[in-house]
Amino acid sequence: MRNTLLLAAIIATVTITAAACKSDIGPGFTNDKVTLGLFVSTSGDIATFGQDTKNGAELAVEEINKAGGISKHLIDLRFQDCASEPAQGGNAATKLITQDGVLIGMGEVASGISLAAAPIFQKYGVPMISPSSTNPTVTQQGDMIFRICYLDDFQGAACALFANQNLNCKTAAILMNQDDAYSTGLGKFFRFKFEKLGGKIVAEETFKKGASDFNTQLTNIKGKNPDVIFAPVYYQDIPLIAKQARGQGIDKPLLGGDGWESDDLLPKADGKLDNCYFANHYATADDAPIVANFVKAYNAKYGSNPTSLAALGYDVVYVAKKAIESAGGINEKLTRKAVADALRGLKDFEGVTGTFSIDKNRDARKPIQMLKIKDGKVLPDRRIRPEEVE
Ligand code: PHE
Repeated sequence: MRNTLLLAAIIATVTITAAACKSDIGPGFTNDKVTLGLFVSTSGDIATFGQDTKNGAELAVEEINKAGGISKHLIDLRFQDCASEPAQGGNAATKLITQDGVLIGMGEVASGISLAAAPIFQKYGVPMISPSSTNPTVTQQGDMIFRICYLDDFQGAACALFANQNLNCKTAAILMNQDDAYSTGLGKFFRFKFEKLGGKIVAEETFKKGASDFNTQLTNIKGKNPDVIFAPVYYQDIPLIAKQARGQGIDKPLLGGDGWESDDLLPKADGKLDNCYFANHYATADDAPIVANFVKAYNAKYGSNPTSLAALGYDVVYVAKKAIESAGGINEKLTRKAVADALRGLKDFEGVTGTFSIDKNRDARKPIQMLKIKDGKVLPDRRIRPEEVE
């Protein structure tokens, strides 16, 4: 009898705690509004990533609200700046969930920050969709964590294939930020495929977050005379790396991933990134009508061309809308779990960054766009489909 009572007490407590936890954060919508969260970095080292993403997301919200919202509920977009720091990413996630009670969280860009935010969304059972974090481990944080971009195992392999087939490189050096999950992960995936294709990695060098002198690493690389230097780093580091490399007389191409993408890239590089290449999620010059319409609307609102960050920020809001609608729209029965289930079943979504589905690992499979920097312009080069590297 005593045991039964004890058990009943435990069950009651557990039920009350679970219920309290859920009602604490609310359902994520009211009679006429739905609350969505956006968390990216609009300050700090990688501020253009967040500014562009926010611009793209706000354009989508404006369009959707003008057309009547999501099942007659206007989007109330709540925003948190992650300040380019993983710890701030965690705080941003907590605020959006516990203060704003968002139905869905959209962010972050940098994989290292998404990795800090994901466990919090998972703990509260709130779906998180990263527009642009490519490190494979991001969505492995739990079944509420999704992404709409390609992954770094593919990105690294595509860069290796491009180095091998398009740049005819037999040897390569790798230069990575040792404190960044994105950088070390992408470096590893590049090495794996480049070696598989018969190439040789003749040097692997690392630097610490915040470094401003890459000369020691570059001297070591120069001594091995590689055909290409793969530098999977963010846009705030690569211009200085390029200047110091050219300063040492290294004239081989530098090759990078999506982390180079920023309107700040070329102005900071003083022409030293000419004849270099990087991977990206889309090309502004794509003549598909959906891309052309987006580029036009973005230009009208902001007076500049959208980067891939802006395109992914735009797409992620429409993906959230689609998932809510597929879950049955906004009514008292809508739960965050139902939204997550709908995301898991998302098929052939037509976005600016391509037509894609979300797979069982909560990831997207999309082609990659290689870009070439030539005469101060970023031009589309080869497009690589996932099947081509498998
Ligand atoms: N993929 C990068 C990361 O995971 C972020 C990024 C996406 C940067 C798109 C630029 C463009 O950290």
